[in-house]
Amino acid sequence: MSHKLRLGVLASGGGTNLQAIIDRIQDGTLNAEVALILSNKPSAGALQRGRQAGIPILCIDQRDYRNRIEFDQAMVKALAEAGVELVVLAGFMRLISQEFLDAFPDRILNIHPALLPAFAGLNAQQQALQYGAKISGCTVHFVDSGVDTGPIVIQAAVPVLESDTVETLSARILRQEHRIYPEAIRLFAEGRLRLIDRQVQITPPLDNSEDALIHPPLQ
Ligand code: GRF
Repeated sequence: MSHKLRLGVLASGGGTNLQAIIDRIQDGTLNAEVALILSNKPSAGALQRGRQAGIPILCIDQRDYRNRIEFDQAMVKALAEAGVELVVLAGFMRLISQEFLDAFPDRILNIHPALLPAFAGLNAQQQALQYGAKISGCTVHFVDSGVDTGPIVIQAAVPVLESDTVETLSARILRQEHRIYPEAIRLFAEGRLRLIDRQVQITPPLDNSEDALIHPPLQ
């Protein structure tokens, strides 16, 4: 078996994206290992999921640090000590500092519940509804110093229905998040993502087989 990519997953919330990643590792789709789950919230469901899966977890509470730099230094130290090769932001509700970015250059992924560059920032699903968008979706992207501005790896689209509430639209988008986030990590793990300026090129698999997940249909 080839090297398992060591992931550090950062999550502040329920952790359903984390769970999707754990599930794809367990069913053999994703050749990776969650080396550490880090949260800034002691009550995060993500920590509970980690406990259940027997994965090392750590809560770094920002209230225990004098400032943002020391908080970020503590996170970087924990990730480095765990031998993390790819940082996966999965509902992590803190901005990442330049120092953190420098510690993992082009090695931090995020998932955002909208089709970037539309509806960046908080409450993306509500933004899409209020704007009257007919299509929304989700985006996996590399993290840069902006808010949801980094190079796009994969996107999936969903319809926005007139009957939608924030909850129903979020649920429809979340189903796609759970599909494309493990897929993006798999592409990274297989060394198939090439970053050229802000374009992410996806190289074909070695056996040249069709990879239907890269261009997901509307559903
Ligand atoms: C997801 O909608 C993700 O796109 C956003 O935060 C939410 C996290 O959900 N960044 P979960 O904790 O993975 O369930």
